[in-house]
Amino acid sequence: MGYTKLEQFEKTGYVVLDRYDQSQDPAEWNDITYVDWKSSGVTRFAPLASAFGQIECDGFWNHTPPRTDKDGVWIDEQTKKSPRLTARAKEPGANVGRCRVIELQPNEYADCIYNLHRDDNNRLNPDGTGWIVRGFFNLTDNPDSMMILREDRDDPSTESRLALPAGGQLIVDTQRLWHAVWHQGDVARYCLITSWESGPELGSYIESYHGVDEVESYPVPQETIDAAQVEYRRRRAERAAALAARSQADVEVLSEA
Ligand SMILES: [Fe+2]
Repeated sequence: MGYTKLEQFEKTGYVVLDRYDQSQDPAEWNDITYVDWKSSGVTRFAPLASAFGQIECDGFWNHTPPRTDKDGVWIDEQTKKSPRLTARAKEPGANVGRCRVIELQPNEYADCIYNLHRDDNNRLNPDGTGWIVRGFFNLTDNPDSMMILREDRDDPSTESRLALPAGGQLIVDTQRLWHAVWHQGDVARYCLITSWESGPELGSYIESYHGVDEVESYPVPQETIDAAQVEYRRRRAERAAALAARSQADVEVLSEA
C-alpha cells in the first residue's frame, strides 16, 4: 500500500515557503525550558510537544509503548510561554509528532558535513498513513547560516544550501535527505522544528505559502567543499579506528573473564 507522500517533495525532497515576519513576534524561544540533547553539533532543545508531555526529547519509538513520530503531547508549561510558536506548529492542521526549538552553537562547514544524517521519523509508521516530514522555522536572523541537504551523503554535487534568515520556513523530507546546519555566527541560532504527517492538510498549507521545491544555493567556494570532504573522510576513518580499538579491548576484557 505504501505511505501518502506529497508530490511537492518529489523532485528535491524539500520546499521553501514564504518568509514569515518574525520581527512582529516576541522572542518566545528565550522564555522556554531547554534540556541538553546532542544532535548534530553543540545543541540544546526545548520541547513543546513530546511523547507523553514531559520536557524531554527522545524519539517516540524509544518510549513504552514505542510508537512513530505522531500524536505528540503538548507540554502546557512550555506552550503557555510560547503561544505564537505553538500556533505556527499547529497551523497546517496536520498531525504533529515531535515539536521543539533547537539551540545550535556556531560551527564550521566541515563540522556540518561530518554531522550530515537522515532522520528516523517514520520508524513504526503504519503502512497506508502519511509520511512524516519536518518543518524548520528559523527564529533568529542567520542569513549567512544554511541548511545543507544532500541526496547522497558522499556526493557534494547533490548538495543544496538553504539560507536561514529570520522567518525562513523550510519543510524537509529528513528521512530521505542527509541534512545538517552550518551556522556561521557568534551566538546561538534558534529554530522551531516540527514533525508533520503528509496529507491534504499539509499540502494545502504548502500551497497557501507558495512553497517552491528549488531555490538557488547559498554560494560556497568549491575549495571549501573539497576540503570538507577530505576532513570528513579523515574524521570518519579516525572514528572507525577508535571503534575497532574499543571492540578489540572488549574482546581482551572478555578473554580475561
Ligand atoms: Fe535531523
